[in-house]
Amino acid sequence: MAYKRLSAVEAASLIKNGENLALSGFTPAGTAKAVTKELAKIAEMEHEAGRPFAVGILTGASTGQSTDGDLANAHAIKYRAPYTTNSDFRKYVNKGEIPYNDLHLSQMAQELRYGFMGTVDWAILEVCDIEEGESVCKAYLTAAGGISPTAARLAKHVILELNSFHNPNAKFIHDVYEPLDPPSRQPIPIVKVGDRIGTPYVKIDAKKIAGVVECCIPDEARAFKDNDPVTDTIGHLTAEFLVDDMKRGIIPASFLPLQSGVGSTANAILGALGKDKHVPDFNIYTEVIQNAVIGMMLNGRVKDASACSLTVSNECLMQVYDNMDYFKDHLTLRPSEISNSPEVIRRLGVIAINTAIECDIYGNANSTHISGTKMMNGIGGSGDFERNAYISIFTCPSTAKGGLISSIVPFVSHQDHSEHDVNIIITEQGVADLRGKSPMQRAEAIIENCAHPDYRKLLRDYLKIAQGGHTRHNLPVAFAMHDTLFRKGDMHLTDFAEYVKE
Ligand code: COA
Repeated sequence: MAYKRLSAVEAASLIKNGENLALSGFTPAGTAKAVTKELAKIAEMEHEAGRPFAVGILTGASTGQSTDGDLANAHAIKYRAPYTTNSDFRKYVNKGEIPYNDLHLSQMAQELRYGFMGTVDWAILEVCDIEEGESVCKAYLTAAGGISPTAARLAKHVILELNSFHNPNAKFIHDVYEPLDPPSRQPIPIVKVGDRIGTPYVKIDAKKIAGVVECCIPDEARAFKDNDPVTDTIGHLTAEFLVDDMKRGIIPASFLPLQSGVGSTANAILGALGKDKHVPDFNIYTEVIQNAVIGMMLNGRVKDASACSLTVSNECLMQVYDNMDYFKDHLTLRPSEISNSPEVIRRLGVIAINTAIECDIYGNANSTHISGTKMMNGIGGSGDFERNAYISIFTCPSTAKGGLISSIVPFVSHQDHSEHDVNIIITEQGVADLRGKSPMQRAEAIIENCAHPDYRKLLRDYLKIAQGGHTRHNLPVAFAMHDTLFRKGDMHLTDFAEYVKE
């Protein structure tokens, strides 16, 4: 039997003002994008006619311009969760126009199931192939797992975007598994990076399929900034640190699976690890696979990889599809609640490496908010991995904006990861090993090893005027560096006494 074919415009016109849409994908990879683009146009027409039109957007992670960007610009988003990287969307969030719920990505699917975010009216899934059964539809996903199985099961209606840009071969790398909810939840039986525990397709009640939109649209993967001397140095320091831990027997000689965050620093770290002859061939258990990993899989440096998405350039994606004979045995894409499962991360002993916006002298880390108020992207999977890692590492350049901002501060202006979850901080200045240290010992390690020399004296001075025993602070001036940045555009202040006088 063949399901009804719809144009993207016809499919978009089925969606009503106020409804909630749950989308496939994770990052722009695998995101449904044909219908949302048309929906943005419908919203603009409705607004011109003086009628309200906005929908809730629920996803695995960020999306691309055709979803977050176009819908935000059309003022068509009434609620959004859980992560985005789109600069147009960010503008409206930071103006307070879009309610945005930033949460750990492993929790998104289960919070939808628990009913924390209301009903799911529509699921829109991008697929590479469909088995159009009379009672059961088997939908094969494209470049990401995301929240698709949960979205399709909870939604009242489902639209499938059959995107011929993707090769139907993509079905060979998916492992779709949705856990039961408490009190019936069972252990997730993944004990090795490459274990497969589910089906290669999302099972959907065929009665819910509203239609299939046939399209051919490339993924909207983001280009990351090129490596620079700072990110290269952080990459080398991270590789050296891990080799040293392996030589000391802290990391087993067979090594442990790695998770590496998003962005240029993450790419540089993986590149440096790949080149380091002392690091044995390794496995990846992560949420996002970037270009660097695909190259390392093809040359055998990375043996097996498990992730939620292939956030790679379109050329690199085609390379995966063209080499499916190899990748089907070495690469697995999972739903986000499995790729980021705290249970599995802890069992496998994943070494987590993520980038922070700022860290404080005690080891608390801020991944999300510029100066405590402006949302950058969101916490993503950094909390899922760092809190449960065998070794949790945060990296960041020691300064931002050409040195006007220190990434090491007395007190983080927003806290995503607490000192209890952070083992190691690495900047281009050096490595602070916080394991087994008290707060005051941590402060010394972070200031002396990670802070930029221009800011070290200031941070040492802060400790001298800080009060208390266990963790020392001087609350009236704890944010003096942030406040000086806000008022003067530069975090440098001569000393704290002068700041108090001002
Ligand atoms: N104060 C103000 N701005 C800062 C800053 C600070 N302390 N630190 C960084 N920035 C700015 C940079 O200047 C840059 O601004 P620009 O876009 O205007 O150039 C921007 O923040 C991004 O920084 P960049 O150095 O380009 O970093 P990146 O690409 O490595 O990304 C994060 C860094 C933190 C934004 C990114 O890793 C992220 O979103 N992390 C949270 C989610 C996560 O960790 N996911 C991974 C889990 S798998």
